Amino acid sequence: MTAALILTKAARRLAERGVDEPGPNAQWLLADALGVERLSLLADPDLPVPPAALKKFERYLALKETGLPLAYITGWQPFMDIKIKVDGRVLVPRPETEELAGHAADFLKTRKEPLVAMDYGAGSGAIGLWLAKKFPGLRLTAAEASARALACSRENAQLLGLADRVKFVRAVTLTPIRAKFDLIVSNPPYIPTRVIPGLAPEVLSEPRLALDGGADGLDVARMLVRLAPARLKKGGALIMELGEEQTRVLMRAMPDKAWAEKKAFKDLSGIERFLYGRIHG
Ligand SMILES: C[S@@+](CC[C@H](N)C(=O)[O-])C[C@H]1O[C@@H](n2cnc3c(N)ncnc32)[C@H](O)[C@@H]1O
Repeated sequence: MTAALILTKAARRLAERGVDEPGPNAQWLLADALGVERLSLLADPDLPVPPAALKKFERYLALKETGLPLAYITGWQPFMDIKIKVDGRVLVPRPETEELAGHAADFLKTRKEPLVAMDYGAGSGAIGLWLAKKFPGLRLTAAEASARALACSRENAQLLGLADRVKFVRAVTLTPIRAKFDLIVSNPPYIPTRVIPGLAPEVLSEPRLALDGGADGLDVARMLVRLAPARLKKGGALIMELGEEQTRVLMRAMPDKAWAEKKAFKDLSGIERFLYGRIHG
């Protein structure tokens, strides 16, 4: 059977099981099973699919039908220009978080080396590790509440050859962290607790700790806004990803005495998603 025929059948099967975006999901899974890029698979519909790849693809499809995120099945997620290993220990990094990483990089470009940054709630480590790769003079602290997620970020640091520049800290607040940073970047859990039960099955298979931000979704974010100024170097910044309408609420909790500048940025979908605060310096 050719790739095109297999894809048509698989997309139909996933659609019947209520899987969102059945076509693209089938394409990503078959490409991974074949060990080729998705675009080259689409460019060559007559590509033969050897029995071993077909068997692997069948296994992938069965997992996808259970509502597992694509990245948990293949074991990796692209993030900017790196590949991040992911599994049930961590949240799958989202496209908007790539935008957050881009804003963080823009800020770091304005600072002098040596650079010191913290990725708070590091999860897989995607944001901080990408920054460490981009800035060879950067020393990173990856802080995380979950020991399992911290182990995953350590594995990613090793896979990317960055482990010697990263310190891994298990923490549930900034309180025990005494160092000063040019930048604290964070994608904290920011979904209000009451919203969680209605999330899609794919999202619900991700760790609850990575999603649940408390009653209004801002438990961790509020702690960061309160404690970050004392952990930033002069002119240093906190950059965070948040949910819709949360940036405005948090900005009101950022007094001018501590913060020299505060701004909200929209993401590519037009949602005010990123909060930037710079302290005096
Ligand atoms: C939305 S996920 C972000 C993961 C990763 N940074 C990313 O962007 O893909 C939030 C992360 O914060 C961690 N977390 C939750 N509460 C925390 C807390 N109080 N202190 C530190 N980390 C926390 C979760 O375990 C999870 O890994």
